[in-house]
Amino acid sequence: QIFRLEDYQPSNYLIPEIALDFRLDPQETLVTATLTVERIARAPADAPLILDGDGLTLEALRINGEEAATDSHDVSPDRLTITRLPASRQFELTIVTRIAPAMNTTLMGLYVSNGVFCTQCEAEGFRRITYFLDRPDILSVYTVRMEADRSEAPLLLSNGNPVEKGVLADGRHFAVWHDPFPKPSYLFALVAGDLGVVKDRFTTASGREVDLGIYVEHGKEERATYAMDALKRSMRWDEDRFGREYDLDVFNIVAVSDFNMGAMENKGLNVFNDKYVLADHDTATDADFANIEAIIAHEYFHNWTGNRITCRDWFQLCLKEGLTVFRDHEFSADQRSRAVKRIAEVRGLRAHQFPEDQGPLAHPVRPRRYREINNFYTATVYEKGSEVVRMLCTILGSEAFRAGMDLYFDRHDGQAVTIEDFVKSFEDASGRDLSQFSLWYHQAGTPNVALSSRYDGNKNALTVEIEQSVPPTPSENRKRLMHIPLAFGLVGPDGSDLDYESVEGANVENGVMHLRRRRHQITFKGVTARPVLSINRGFSAPVTLSVEINANEQLFLARHDSDPFSRWQALNTLLTGALITASKSVRGGKKPVFDDEIISITADLAADETLEEAFRALTLSVPGEADVAREIGRDIDPDTIHAARKALLLAIAQAGGETFRKLYDGLLDNAPFSPDARSAGRRALRNTLIEFLTLDDANPAAAYRQFEDADNMTERAGALTVLAQHFHDTAEGRAALAAFEERYSNNPLVLDKWFQIQAMIPSAETVSLIRNLMKHPQFLLANPNRVRALVGTFSMANQTAFHSADGEGYRLVAETVTALDRHNPQVAARLATAFRSWRSLEKGRREHARKLLSEMARRDDLSRDLADILERTLA
Ligand code: ARG
Ligand code: ZN
Repeated sequence: QIFRLEDYQPSNYLIPEIALDFRLDPQETLVTATLTVERIARAPADAPLILDGDGLTLEALRINGEEAATDSHDVSPDRLTITRLPASRQFELTIVTRIAPAMNTTLMGLYVSNGVFCTQCEAEGFRRITYFLDRPDILSVYTVRMEADRSEAPLLLSNGNPVEKGVLADGRHFAVWHDPFPKPSYLFALVAGDLGVVKDRFTTASGREVDLGIYVEHGKEERATYAMDALKRSMRWDEDRFGREYDLDVFNIVAVSDFNMGAMENKGLNVFNDKYVLADHDTATDADFANIEAIIAHEYFHNWTGNRITCRDWFQLCLKEGLTVFRDHEFSADQRSRAVKRIAEVRGLRAHQFPEDQGPLAHPVRPRRYREINNFYTATVYEKGSEVVRMLCTILGSEAFRAGMDLYFDRHDGQAVTIEDFVKSFEDASGRDLSQFSLWYHQAGTPNVALSSRYDGNKNALTVEIEQSVPPTPSENRKRLMHIPLAFGLVGPDGSDLDYESVEGANVENGVMHLRRRRHQITFKGVTARPVLSINRGFSAPVTLSVEINANEQLFLARHDSDPFSRWQALNTLLTGALITASKSVRGGKKPVFDDEIISITADLAADETLEEAFRALTLSVPGEADVAREIGRDIDPDTIHAARKALLLAIAQAGGETFRKLYDGLLDNAPFSPDARSAGRRALRNTLIEFLTLDDANPAAAYRQFEDADNMTERAGALTVLAQHFHDTAEGRAALAAFEERYSNNPLVLDKWFQIQAMIPSAETVSLIRNLMKHPQFLLANPNRVRALVGTFSMANQTAFHSADGEGYRLVAETVTALDRHNPQVAARLATAFRSWRSLEKGRREHARKLLSEMARRDDLSRDLADILERTLA
C-alpha cells in the first residue's frame, strides 16, 4: 500500500480523552484503554470507526460499558473495525489487549530493554499497544495508570505530571500520571524498571519550578551529569532565543540501551539511546559530549516544535524535524564556536544528505508518497529540512524570522498542522511572498549553481554570470526554478571585503544575492580593485557550485576570506580537486603528485595561532574517501581514491615535519579534563596531528605513546584509530586493540568504539575480521548500537573494504541485513541504505551490488521496511 499526501482526509472520529491501564508483565501485559470517542458533526451517523492495530490480541471490547456484540465489530491483529455504534455523537469505548513486551524485538511499541519496560511510539508504534486512531492529528488528553512488581519495577513513569501512587497486594504497586496537554499517540511513553537517577531543578522565566530527572542504570548516575547540565542550558536558551518556556511540573529523561534511533521527545518523558546520555572523560570522546548536548537540546526543543504544535500527517514530518534540527544547530553554535559548528554541519549534510538527494532514494523535504514512514526519517527530512529553515531566516532577516516564529506559536499552539501553515506564518509576519521559496520543501534534488565572473578595470565593474539547474530525481523529471539565497563577498587584494556603489541584475541585499531565475547577469559597479568572489558564504544555500575560479584565487580565499566557513571551503575544494587528479593518476598507473602550494597552505593554516584550534583541526582534515567519490560521481574505483588520499596524507605529513611535532607537543594540556569547546578543539588538533606525525615517522611509536599516555577517551580513541588505520598489523597496533578491549570489556558503549575502529580498517582482511567480531560475546544482533558500530560503520565508513572488488563486503552487509530483518525491520532497512550509491561505482562492483540487491529483493519474507528500500534502490 502506498500512502499519498493528496489522499489526506480528516478523521470522522476524535478521541479527546484516553485512560490507559497497564498490568505490566514481561511475558503478558494487559492493556485496558478507555477512550472517549466523538463523531464529528459532518460525519454520517453510521460511519464505521476503524482503529489501527499491529500484531494485537483483543481480549475484550465494551461500548458505553456494555460488552460489544460479536456482530458489532470485526477484528484482526492489525485492525479493529466497529460498525455498530451508539447513535449519540459521544460514547465510551473500552478496549482490552494482551501484548508480550519481552518478545518484542522490533523495539517499537512496548518492549523490554535490559529489564526495563519502555516504549517507542513514533511513528506508528502506539498501535502495537492498543487499537487506536494512530495518526498525529488525533489529539487526546492521557491519564495513565501502571501497575507492576515492586522489586522489578520500583520506578513507574509516564507523560505529564504524577498524580497518585500506592502499594498493592502480592508485592505489586501502581502509579498514575496525567498529561493535561492534548497530544498525538506517537508522543505517548511509559517507563517501568529499576533505575538510578540524577535530579535537579529548573525555574522557568515566569517562575515555574520544574523537577528534572535523568534515569540511568544503577552505578551510571555520575555519567549523566553532563546531560543534566546540557538540559538546563537548553531550557534557558529556548526562553532567551525563542521565548519558549517549559510547561509541566516535571521533565524526565530515561536512558535505555536498546533503541532504534537517537532519542524520542515524548511529552515530559524523553526516552534516549543511552549513547546520547552517558559521558565522562574516561569513556566518552569530545564528539560524544557534543552529540549529547545537541540531542538533549533537540528533544527538549521538540516540546514546542513538535509537541505543542504537531504534524497533521506524516508527510509533514519536516515541520517538526527540520525546524527542531535548525533550533538545535543554533543552540550548539551559541554554546560553542559558530564557524566550527557550521563546517561540521555542512560536512555532515554533504556526507549524508547529498548522496541521498543524488541517488535512487531521493525525495522532497516534504515527501508526497510513502510505503513505510519509518524510511523517511532521513537526512533530507532532518538536515536539508533544517537548511530550508536556515534559508528562511537568511531571507527574512532574524527579526522577521522571529516574528514569524512567534506568530506560528500563537496561531497554532495545540494544533496539528502542515508546512503550508508554517510558511504562511512567515508570509503573514513579514508581508513577503514565499511561494517560490516553498519549492525547497516540494522539489527533490540538490540544485546546482554555475557561476563565472569578469572584472573590467576601466569601468570598475564586476559582472557575474549565474545559472541554476536542478537535476532530475526519481519521478520528478521537470524541475521548477528555485529561490536560492547566496551569501557572498567581494574580497579585495588586502583580504577585506570591497564595497560597491550599485548592483543590477538581481535582488542583492545584506550581502546576499537572491537568484530566482534560470540565469542572472549581475553587475556590481564602483568596485575599485579586482576582487575575488567569495560565494555561498556560511553555506547559505544547500547547493553544489560549479565555479570558474583558478587555483590561485582559491588559495587566496583560503588564506584571506573574512568568512571562516569560506576559508575552509576554499581549501577543501582545492584538496578535493587534488585528490581527484591524484586518483586518476593512480588509476592510470602513475604516481600521484601534489601541488606544493596546496600542501604548504594546509600546513600553514594548521600552525596559524591566530585561528582557533578546532578550526585548524578542520582545515587539516583531508576530505574523506567518500567525499572524493561523491565528487567524482561515476565509474568510481574506491581503491584508487584510497591510494591517492594516503599519498596526500604522506605529503602533508612530510611538509609538516618538525612544525607539526612542536605544535603537537605545545598542545599537551596538563589541566584537568574539561569537555568545553576550547579544550575539545585542542584535543581535536592533537588528534589530527598525531596521524601526520606517525605517517611521517613511518612508525607507530608516536601514536602508541599517545594511546598509552592519554587521560581521556578522545585522545585514546584518536590514537587507536591512527594505529588501526595505518598500523593494524604491527605489534603496537595489535597490543593497543587488545588493551582497549580488556580495559573496557564491561562497558558496551565503549566497546562499540572498539568495534567501530576495527570496522574502518582499510584491509583485504577486514571482511573476515568483522565476521569474527560478530561472534564476539559482546556483539548482539538484537542491539542496534552494536550493529551500527560494527556493520553500519563498515558499510558507511570503510570505502575500500565495503566496496572490495570481489563483492565480499557487499555480501557481508546483505547477509546481516537479511538476518536482522526478521527481528528488527527498521534497523535492517536503515542498514540497507548503504547500497544507495551503487550505480555510481565501476562496472565490476556495480554488478556485484546489483546481484546481491536483486537476490535480497526476491525473498518473500521481507518486511515492508526493507522491501521498500530495496525496491527503490533497484528502481
Ligand atoms: N522524533 C525522534 C527525533 O528525531 C525520532 C524518532 C524516530 N523514530 C522512528 N521510529 N523512526 O527526535
Ligand atoms: Zn527530532
